[in-house]
Amino acid sequence: MIRFENVGKIYDANNLKVHACTNISFSIEKGDIFGVIGYSGAGKSTLIRMVNALERPSSGNVIVNNEIINNLKNDDLIKARKNISMIFQNFNLLNSRTVYENVAMPLILNKTPKKDIKKKVNEILEFVELSEKVNVYPSNLSGGQKQRVGIARALATNPTILLCDEPTSALDPRTTESILGLLKKINQELDVTILIITHQMNIVQNLCNKMAVMEEGRIVEIGDVKKIFAKPREAITKTFVNSVIDNKIPDPVLIGLREKKNGKILTVRCMGGNVCDTFVPELRNKFDTEINTLSVSVNEVQNAILTVFSLQITGSDRKIKEVTDYLSNLYEYEEVLL
Ligand SMILES: Nc1ncnc2c1ncn2[C@@H]1O[C@H](COP(=O)(O)OP(=O)(O)O)[C@@H](O)[C@H]1O
Ligand SMILES: [Mg+2]
Repeated sequence: MIRFENVGKIYDANNLKVHACTNISFSIEKGDIFGVIGYSGAGKSTLIRMVNALERPSSGNVIVNNEIINNLKNDDLIKARKNISMIFQNFNLLNSRTVYENVAMPLILNKTPKKDIKKKVNEILEFVELSEKVNVYPSNLSGGQKQRVGIARALATNPTILLCDEPTSALDPRTTESILGLLKKINQELDVTILIITHQMNIVQNLCNKMAVMEEGRIVEIGDVKKIFAKPREAITKTFVNSVIDNKIPDPVLIGLREKKNGKILTVRCMGGNVCDTFVPELRNKFDTEINTLSVSVNEVQNAILTVFSLQITGSDRKIKEVTDYLSNLYEYEEVLL
């Protein structure tokens, strides 16, 4: 549905060349909620803005619905953009217009008949649960309500793709959750493919089925969200995963371990199934050796359970190797260095 083919974007800022995106190739399939995560300045906004040709690549192509969007102009571009809507971190509403007028705006620009506009706007406001605010001005709305208006406006043209540029960064955690719920509903009930960029891993964890990690203009890791949470490869991906999966061994415990070094300490990640209560006793029984649980963290990722254990395994070197050999076939683990 969306395909980046060797896309590069270089800005020329006062004769200083900024490589915002470099050699980007990946695809987003119909029905995906695809998250791109990265720190500020990674090139995320540039990437998403190339999908509706708000920015054009310096090299390569962005293909949307089988059209090279960066080659389209005038009417062809307007037509393609009807299918692709966007929402923003700061909502981008017209403050001098009511909720109704903001949502109606794209339809007025499309020259939709007035009575159709009324029907559509009322229908979408009901969908985003904002019907009672129809004649209110944006300044009298909360952040979450403003974003709902932004979303309603984006849906007015019945898009098949919704681009979201940090849509919850200005919102508190509870409001963020309700907006994520709405985006999920849009994906499932309206069959809209979503590309969302963010620096918050909880957004990816709660919303997305696929993800890419962006660093300095490049995609450094990409794949299924569950797989990446179970087995992050790059250091930056591990940092993002650890920002939401709290599997830290508490400091007092660490100090104790350093003072009395004994055995091997592992972080083990188990994705899927509900292993939290049976895993350690089974391991102890199987290998007849002492295994202490130093920390356990149980998390939901895409309707699956990810349990992360920190374990201290003691015993002879041979015994410890038996345990780690067994674990390495089944789970993802890393040794914790004290
Ligand atoms: N219009 C522009 N002109 C010059 N440099 C830009 C422009 N837009 C973005 N950049 C630069 O490109 C890099 C990537 O920016 P951006 O895509 O906004 O990243 P992100 O959204 O991940 O924070 C940054 O170094 C930024 O300063
Ligand atoms: Mg940005």
